[in-house]
Amino acid sequence: MIPLLDLKAQYRSIKKEIDEAIQGVLATQHFIMGSEVKEFEEEVRNHIGANHAFGCASGSDALLLALMAIDIKPGDYVITSPFTFFATAGAIDRLGAIPVFVDIEPGSYNIDPHKVREFLEGKSPLSNRLKAPIDKIKAIIPVHLYGQMADMDRIMEIAQEFDLRVIEDAAQSIGALYKGMQAGTIGDFGCFSFFPSKNLGAFGDAGLITVKDEELAEKTNILRLHGAKPKYHHKYVGINSRLDSIQAAVLRVKLKYLEQWSDSRREIALKYNQLFADRGLVSKSFQVCDGGCTIDSSECSAFDEKLLILPVEMTGAPDMSGKHIYHQYTIRSNKRDFLEERLKSSNIGSAIYYPVPLHIQECFRHLGYEKEDCPIAICASNQVLSLPIYPELKDHQLEEVVDVVNSALTAF
Ligand SMILES: Cc1ncc(COP(=O)(O)O)c(C=O)c1O
Repeated sequence: MIPLLDLKAQYRSIKKEIDEAIQGVLATQHFIMGSEVKEFEEEVRNHIGANHAFGCASGSDALLLALMAIDIKPGDYVITSPFTFFATAGAIDRLGAIPVFVDIEPGSYNIDPHKVREFLEGKSPLSNRLKAPIDKIKAIIPVHLYGQMADMDRIMEIAQEFDLRVIEDAAQSIGALYKGMQAGTIGDFGCFSFFPSKNLGAFGDAGLITVKDEELAEKTNILRLHGAKPKYHHKYVGINSRLDSIQAAVLRVKLKYLEQWSDSRREIALKYNQLFADRGLVSKSFQVCDGGCTIDSSECSAFDEKLLILPVEMTGAPDMSGKHIYHQYTIRSNKRDFLEERLKSSNIGSAIYYPVPLHIQECFRHLGYEKEDCPIAICASNQVLSLPIYPELKDHQLEEVVDVVNSALTAF
């Protein structure tokens, strides 16, 4: 049995410290906005080099708070990726705004800045169909998917040119680097999730938001407390979204190990790459080029069905001062569903992140998107498969995963 993620193994490795930290909170009975929360916010802020950091109840709330802080209103438009967890777009819709789904790069699975520019310059079919007035397009949410950051230089350039706020969805990427800069420190806001399965995972829901600008920071801080400052004096209509002290205490213990854990994940990813290459399973039809890869939608299923496309380090490549922290190790195959089945029958966990791109979700049907608006996301959703990756994964387990994939691919 090789699970997709083994949280019990992680807990065993730091049990004493975690149990003591929780007991410490129980002893104080200070569960809301206590000193543990303050300390954790300060430690994260220092760890990633952010100007301001505020704990909140989840990554989803971090996104909502960022959008509320910049006054996103019904009728506004916010650009984001169709290939992400639902929360990214859900936060936009909850404020009555309209998500603009712009297709991804095939190599990094992150939003394609060229296509964002095309949309904003009115040159894409989507620009014609959505007819978004340019002054209503307020922000962009690049998502740093699977642990690798989006092409932030290009995104910041576009944001400046078109006067957009930038909210980094760094839910999967705490500790990832782009040209030496940490995820969540480049845009106006960074939104982090500490959902238990994340690289830095709490014992329940938890999140954090980083803010660059002083005034927006003050507003964000208040918004998570029902918009009140001082207590019972409400400057804004905010929400109740706080980080629990118990979660903060757990996260403070885990934060000390984060870098070491991310390095282990990287090592495991490189070992996977090597093992797949040793077995001759890697497609060569997929070359990295500037800002993307040679694969396009027409080539989507053109690579050999007996071969795989491995994760591509783009902004996350060390020679670009980047760091991919492999929240997921995600391969592509034309026989994805068959592979998933074979892994399952061998008691090996795997998962599809994500099977249905957001632009074709039922809840967004009224927005009028067509499948073809984001062909790379459609292609990815049919081919991606994430394999087990966590620091405690043993070499022999890794080999077993690769062997099962190998035998599945040679079986037809
Ligand atoms: C890309 C992305 N955005 C947002 C979220 C939402 O975070 P949470 O589950 O903490 O609300 C998640 C995680 O689940 C995520 O992976």
